[in-house]
Amino acid sequence: MENVIELDGITKEFKVLNRHEGIKGSIKDLFSRDYKTVYAVKDVSLKIKQGEIVGYLGPNGAGKSTTIKMMTGVLNPSSGKILVNGRVPYKERTRNSQDIGVVFGQRSQLWWALPLVESFKLLKEIYGIETKDYNDMLDFYSSLVDLEPLLHKPVRQMSLGQRTLSDILASFLHNPKICFLDEPTIGLDVAMKSNIRTLIHAINEKMNTTVILTTHDMGDVDALCKRIIIIDKGQMLYDNDIEHLRSFFGSYRTLKIRPQGNVEDKAKDIEKGLAGTDTSVSTEDGWISILINEEKSKVPDVLSLIQQNTKIKDMQLQEISTEEVIKKIYTEGV
Ligand SMILES: Nc1ncnc2c1ncn2[C@@H]1O[C@H](COP(=O)(O)OP(=O)(O)OP(=O)(O)O)[C@@H](O)[C@H]1O
Ligand SMILES: [Mg+2]
Repeated sequence: MENVIELDGITKEFKVLNRHEGIKGSIKDLFSRDYKTVYAVKDVSLKIKQGEIVGYLGPNGAGKSTTIKMMTGVLNPSSGKILVNGRVPYKERTRNSQDIGVVFGQRSQLWWALPLVESFKLLKEIYGIETKDYNDMLDFYSSLVDLEPLLHKPVRQMSLGQRTLSDILASFLHNPKICFLDEPTIGLDVAMKSNIRTLIHAINEKMNTTVILTTHDMGDVDALCKRIIIIDKGQMLYDNDIEHLRSFFGSYRTLKIRPQGNVEDKAKDIEKGLAGTDTSVSTEDGWISILINEEKSKVPDVLSLIQQNTKIKDMQLQEISTEEVIKKIYTEGV
């Protein structure tokens, strides 16, 4: 299969001013030539094939958006080689834009004052979409989402969810080979997130569109991505199937407990009681989660330790979640 994206040793550095404190410092900064170099992306190499949906993950400031900006041609790399659809993106930005779609989180690329359908018509002209293809696409969209009420609404009157949905529809309208979605579900409710995941999945299936997705929502990853790439501090930590990653941490399970009494207090008791076992305790929504390394500690043993001084109202046992796997990688590395 054909690689639609190839990055080879890509680095992006920014020169930023070394800021000084206080008013004197601010004045000094005005005339300062005291710059330091920040590596937003450092020596990243990857290949992505047509039709893949790849989750591009990492903590805040990891370099995800910077990488996407280089792939879309908005930024040029400081060093390394980059090819998108066989072209160097920043050199052939206009030609490249024919073959890609882009959505950047909360920033809409639609015409604010126009009803959505007018934006779509403009995009049809800009990208030279054939009328038949355009109509087919709108039919396809209608089969996936409730399109009609959106079409006649000016973008500025839309809710965040409606606007994001519209932005995503617009980005796929010209049937690009690749679509870059930078945090497409940020700030959306569960129903809208689910809509958007279904939509992305369906378009990928039908059009074989390659999708590069950055997100902090592991629900997006579970719903959409087979392969994930994780970067941190600009450097690549992981590039493989999500299942492979899970099996890496396969010996972990989470015991969830709803205790009698105050959850936070009980969690502290339990943490003390489990000292010496390979577990970690956290709380969420009235539940205490105990992540257990089953190679070191057995679930029944942990449970009986807990029951020595905690009355349990309810309990669940879960396989390690994507959320926890990713959290472990962010904090401990691979
Ligand atoms: N134009 C710029 N000038 C200076 N530094 C920048 C610039 N753009 C990004 N950076 C720095 O590069 C690093 C990576 O930023 P980037 O926006 O790519 O992170 P990210 O992974 O998208 O984070 P987030 O999850 O918060 O969106 C950060 O330290 C950021 O401050
Ligand atoms: Mg970002």
